Amino acid sequence: KKTIFSGIQPSGILTLGNYLGAVKNWVALQDEYDCYYCVVDLHAITVRQDPATLRRRTLDTMAILIASGIDPKKNVLYMQSHVSAHAELAWLLNCFTYMGELSRMTQFKEKSAKAGDNINAGLFTYPVLMAADILLYQADLVPVGVDQKQHLELTRDIAIRFNNIYGGVFTVPEPYIPKAGAKIMSLQEPEKKMSKSDENENAFISLLDPPDAIARKLRRAVTDSDGEIRYAEEKPGVSNLLTIYSVLTGKTVAESEKDFAGQGYGVLKQGVTDAVVAALEPLQKRYQEVRGDKAFLESVMTENAEKAAYAARKTLSKVQRKIGLAPRK
Ligand code: AQP
Repeated sequence: KKTIFSGIQPSGILTLGNYLGAVKNWVALQDEYDCYYCVVDLHAITVRQDPATLRRRTLDTMAILIASGIDPKKNVLYMQSHVSAHAELAWLLNCFTYMGELSRMTQFKEKSAKAGDNINAGLFTYPVLMAADILLYQADLVPVGVDQKQHLELTRDIAIRFNNIYGGVFTVPEPYIPKAGAKIMSLQEPEKKMSKSDENENAFISLLDPPDAIARKLRRAVTDSDGEIRYAEEKPGVSNLLTIYSVLTGKTVAESEKDFAGQGYGVLKQGVTDAVVAALEPLQKRYQEVRGDKAFLESVMTENAEKAAYAARKTLSKVQRKIGLAPRK
């Protein structure tokens, strides 16, 4: 069986973008692969977090993933900070990554532009920690949205560089990017991706938004003035709504355009609202059950952290040995 690794930050309540770009695929892959699904809290602190909120969101995220259909018995579903090998390997890989490479990362450029005076070193080396996450488990495939493709390429470069120096230590991972719905855009600025930490709550649909909030946010979604429902680059707002609709209904974009032929944007927005509400209703119901059972969530985290730590330790020891660090007897 091939191995999959993917992570998600508890930096907010997961959005429809996270769900359609990542989590939905995680669920689809769990039967066929050995999957490590990680809540990457160490990545989340590259942006200042309120401790109590972060602690709560960590559990919220775990519960959302389980409610989305990720089976915590079948997959290794765990917290990044519970497995210290992530931070240890990240340090080692920092010494094999160049400043120039990290400076070219678009996510760093975007996030540092918004970070005010907190452009910290963690924000800069974020992709190295991500490389450590993936390489620790010798992952073959990494399901991510297109927005993460550049980071994955850097992971591959680091792995290849390391292997060239020390022999085949790491599996070089491939990105696994779903064709449809890979990128969901902001409802307010449709040329930007939808993000859970967006300051404007109208820009994203959270997986826990009640139906009236979903309807309201979609009604306010930015479109354009030509009034035609079709998918086109110069119509990012309408195209985004069509994408959401088509991914949720399983229709092609062309079929979705046909569903709304000759109609106004109000009808499109209502159609998208119905599709989103129908998709999220069962997830939200299950979420309430799971989130209410703290003991269950804690046992999932403990058991899976042990499994992850065991696998991670093997790779880390090998890397330490290859580099020439004195073995721990
Ligand atoms: N808008 C999106 N469309 C499709 N996929 C998306 N992903 C994120 N946004 C979209 C995918 O979700 C996974 C987890 O992402 P993450 O939480 O690790 O970090 P992110 O990509 O930075 O996501 P956000 O929501 O934008 O978080 P913040 O606001 O904290 O930065 C990834 O696989 C990503 O591709």
